[in-house]
Order: sequence, then C-alpha cells, then structure tokens
Amino acid sequence: MDARTQAGKILESVKSSGIHYRDSLPMIASENIISPLVAAAINSDLHGRYAEGLPGKRYYQGCDDFDTIESIGIESAKRVFNCNFTNIQSTSGTVSNMASLKALAKPGDTITAVSTADGGHISHARMGAVGVRGLNLVTYPWDIDRMEPDIDASMKIIRETSPNLALFGQSVFLFPTPLKELSDAAHEVGAKVMYDGAHVLGLIAGGQFQDPLREGADVMTGSSHKTFPGPQGGFVLSDSSDEKFHRKLNNSIFPGTCSSYHLHHVAGKSVALAEFEEFGAQYAKDIVNNAQALAAALAAEGFDVLAEDRGYTASHQVLTRHGDIDSGAGRKAAQILEDSGIITNMNMLPGDTKAMQPSGLRLGVPELTRVGMGTDEMTDVARFFARALIKNQETSEIKSDVKSFKSNFQNVKYCFESGPAYPNLE
Ligand SMILES: Cc1ncc(COP(=O)(O)O)c(C=O)c1O
Repeated sequence: MDARTQAGKILESVKSSGIHYRDSLPMIASENIISPLVAAAINSDLHGRYAEGLPGKRYYQGCDDFDTIESIGIESAKRVFNCNFTNIQSTSGTVSNMASLKALAKPGDTITAVSTADGGHISHARMGAVGVRGLNLVTYPWDIDRMEPDIDASMKIIRETSPNLALFGQSVFLFPTPLKELSDAAHEVGAKVMYDGAHVLGLIAGGQFQDPLREGADVMTGSSHKTFPGPQGGFVLSDSSDEKFHRKLNNSIFPGTCSSYHLHHVAGKSVALAEFEEFGAQYAKDIVNNAQALAAALAAEGFDVLAEDRGYTASHQVLTRHGDIDSGAGRKAAQILEDSGIITNMNMLPGDTKAMQPSGLRLGVPELTRVGMGTDEMTDVARFFARALIKNQETSEIKSDVKSFKSNFQNVKYCFESGPAYPNLE
C-alpha cells in the first residue's frame, strides 16, 4: 500500500468505526460521546498550541485567550466537584493518577489499593503507575457479596501495614466505597487518602454516588470522558485549602507528568463543565436509574446478574455472569453480542483468575442514556441480550433490529445544543 492509499484507508476506517457505533448499542462502561459544543472546542486551532504553566503564568507567548478558557474551566470545576482545588490539565485518568502518586508518595513507600482481580485499575497495580512510581503494593481483602473492600479486614491491613498512601476506587464499580471508615483508619496511621473516581466522577458530581472529598479523600482523580461526559482527559481535585499542597499537585501535572497538555481538550473539558453545571444532576440520576432498570430487566430475562441482594447496582455499571469461572464464557458472550450490534467488554468476576478467559461481562449505560434512552428502553435492550445469548437467534437478524431501534436515538442530550451523536458520517 502506498502512503497516500494508507492515509485513505485510515480515514475510511475512522468513518467505518463511527458508523459501527452509530448503528450499535455502545455499552462499554468507560465510554461516552461528546456534545456538539465540546466537539467545536476540540476541533480548533488550540489543537496545535502549547501553554506550559498556569493561567497568567505561562512560559510561552500567545496564551491570553487560553488563559480565559482555563480560568473559566478551573472555577467551573470547583463548583461542579464542590472543592477548593482543581487541575483540569491532565490528559487522562492514568496521568491524573501518576501525577497524584508523585505528589502523595515517594519511591519505596507503601500503598494500599484494590487488586485488579477485584476491579482495581491497572494504574493501581505494579504493572502500571504504582509500579512506575516504585511503590510497594498491598491489596485490600475483598467482600465478594458486597462487591467492595471488606471493611474490617481492610482496616486491619491498613493498621498493620501503615501505608503512606491509601488508594480507593475501581474500574468495576457497582457500589460506593465505605470510605469514611477506611479513610479514618488510614489517617490514623498517618497515610494520605486518594480516591480514583475515573468511572463514577459524573455520578459523584451529580450527587448520585458518594462524596469522597467529604468522606476523607485528600485527593480525588478521574477521567473527563466516562460518566463525566467530556472529551478524553483527566482531573485532579482536592478540598484542601493548603496552597502549598495545591502547588505540589499542580507541579505534579506540569512539569511532573505533562508538557503539552492538549489545550483543545482543556477547552472541550471547560465547555463540558459548563454543560454539566446545567444538565449534570439530571444526567447522573438518569444513568443510575437506567443501570438499575437494565439489571432488573436482564435478571427478568433469566440472566445471572451480580449483587442481586444489594439491588444489583448503585452506579452506571451492571455485571453479568455467563458460565463457569475461568470458562471464557464472558469472551464468547461479548463476541456474540457484537455480532448482534451490541458493544460490551468481557470482564473478570469474583472467582475468575484468567483475565483473557473470564466468565462475565461489564455493561455500562452512560452512552445509551446520553442519546435519550430511558428505563423503558432498558427493557428493550435486555430483550436484545436475551435474543442473542439465551434464545440463540440469528445474530444478523438481531443486528438489523438493533440498528433500526438505535436509529431513534441519534442525538446527544444533556447539552446546550443537541446535535448528532455520531457526526461526520455522511
Ligand atoms: C479506576 C480507573 N482509573 C483510571 C482509569 C484510566 O483512565 P484513562 O483511560 O482516562 O487513562 C480507568 C480507566 O478506565 C479506571 O477505570
């Protein structure tokens, strides 16, 4: 393939991917779509610019307009997340974590966190940011029934190991962390407390999950593109009023972990924050209602939905088991669903030990909610699941029905100017 053909092939695949998502039910819990105004901010000249430093204190010329943008975004983020300090420059949730680990711990320190097998993120693990920072990792005992750290056993671990930093939060995140008790134990032994809200940040800001900065977290990190429905990027947040600590957190982003910090995404994030101030509380409420409705509808169709005793979920996620532990049934189910027009991901569930052969699926509803689906549509979605995975109907038929169902949900909601959810595909 010559270079020109190669570029053409890439653009063709970009369009084809957009069409695939437009015609499907995208249910990856970490994904979302952006509003037209956010898209306008991203697709701008800012894309190619630099602004090292903070508003009013730049290394480069040319930043006056960007100073306005970032200053508005910082103040908006303080209102949205109800806190004294926000850094909106981070280019991802992982970068936010790396930066916070730099600010809160030093190489050789001990950190406690949720293990990846129990739903912790790779950045909380030795293979990720925790390892890069050279920290000793101790993981919390896990309460399988409640799908959260075992409170008593985790408090014991914290008291015995005396970590320098106690990290909470997960990628598989059904219920709020019992943070008050655990952060009290951590503070008792002199540890700092960090809460990774990457997945649930929009629910937290919308008042629907928990309030980590009031429950003991010294720092909260997160992605700006999951339940918080902005462009890809991250946040570092704290309610501390200590300006020295603020400087430390800012320095851990720049120069600590970013140089160019994707100015167009900071502008997009700032627009998304403004939209969240207006629509976020309703969006968060609708997400949780939809997740609970989907879980109940899947259970009614005969699926094994986890955490029935706790009402299945208090977040945007639902977990389903599709076969024996380590059987790879989750992988198989995810493939059948994609053939049927439903995009999900396989996921390890309690008991699974093989990441590539898990028994379950993790489902998320942020995107379906954002295109206007409500609890009635969650019943329709569960019916598509049953046709694909229980009744074993022809996947091409289901896919065609999914496409026609999805054609009624093509605009982004919860934003100032509703517009195409999957633009530029004509
Ligand atoms: C708990 C948690 N932290 C951090 C991240 C990383 O976020 P990002 O993909 O923005 O780097 C994720 C990603 O899904 C996550 O689940």
